[in-house]
Amino acid sequence: MFGKKKKKSQIDQEQLQLIKNAQHRIKQKKRLFTHFVVFLIGAVFLIIANTVLGIGKDTKFFGINWFVFAILGWLFFFLYHLFNVFVTSKFMSKDWEEQELAKLVNKQKVRIEKLKTQIEKEDLTIAESEVFQEKNSKIINNLTIIVAAGEHNEIGKNNDLIWHLRDDLKRFKALTSGHHIIMGRKTFESFPKPLPNRTHVVISRQANYKAPEGVIVVNSLEDAIQVGKKDTQPFIIGGGEIYKLALPYASKIEITRVHSTFDADTFFPEIDTTLWKETANTFHKKDDNHEFEFSFMTYLRK
Ligand SMILES: NC(=O)c1ccc[n+]([C@@H]2O[C@H](COP(=O)([O-])OP(=O)(O)OC[C@H]3O[C@@H](n4cnc5c(N)ncnc54)[C@H](OP(=O)(O)O)[C@@H]3O)[C@@H](O)[C@H]2O)c1
Repeated sequence: MFGKKKKKSQIDQEQLQLIKNAQHRIKQKKRLFTHFVVFLIGAVFLIIANTVLGIGKDTKFFGINWFVFAILGWLFFFLYHLFNVFVTSKFMSKDWEEQELAKLVNKQKVRIEKLKTQIEKEDLTIAESEVFQEKNSKIINNLTIIVAAGEHNEIGKNNDLIWHLRDDLKRFKALTSGHHIIMGRKTFESFPKPLPNRTHVVISRQANYKAPEGVIVVNSLEDAIQVGKKDTQPFIIGGGEIYKLALPYASKIEITRVHSTFDADTFFPEIDTTLWKETANTFHKKDDNHEFEFSFMTYLRK
């Protein structure tokens, strides 16, 4: 069923021809050498046949023994053979050698060029993948930003929220419960008290920032991420400064887009759709508990 494929010869046809030519030429030279040896032995034999054995002793032409003509005739034939191998043979002429050499050199040049292009392509791919890795090296798996923002990315004013949306708060609670919630010092101070059932990680530049027991205070976002490392889904919950810092690290954004514009002093950074892909969108109408229309949207990093 899975018959083996016949292997295609890897030897180049031109190279093969060159090898065949070289073999042919070796044979030609061998034959010429054999001819020369046979000629020498034959010539000696003819001389002995005539002078020692007396064969055709009385046969002379123009007063010269017949074997001299025989040897001269053979010599002429040998010279013709020699001429054929070293002068007229296409395997021996200088032009042919140069042509073959030029072919070989050109072939190697083409191969070198191909290899160069291949190496350049590979270098480019490696460079691109290094740039890609560099660009993506900050991303933390499952680090999720959760935010509610107006149509112009408004998120707060005077260190407070600018709307009250019951279902948004419910969703915030449902998603973040049991997890680490990472926030800026100002957002933390906007809460009346720490939120239940969540590990608070507060970022502040202050060396001795005092927080209630159980609240973890760190001095950088990197330290906050480190604290939440074992969590399956740590959340960045704001505010504006921390969202901006955390966006390059996040792999997911849960955003409640409030479909209105607001007077605000704090904003969420623009979501770059070349980097982020919207994967979910649920619209929520205005009602007695919700003064504005809004949509729960999920973005995943591309
Ligand atoms: N709509 C929403 O979903 C949402 C969510 C959260 C918050 N918010 C709103 O956002 C506003 C608060 O945001 P914000 O931007 O003013 O403040 P923030 O981001 O909550 O906190 C800023 C503070 O974080 C600390 N910090 C910032 N960068 C730091 C760094 N690189 N290293 C160490 N510490 C750093 C500093 O604390 P220190 O000054 O102590 O050094 C800084 O003052 C409020 O209006 C709040 O209601 C809205």
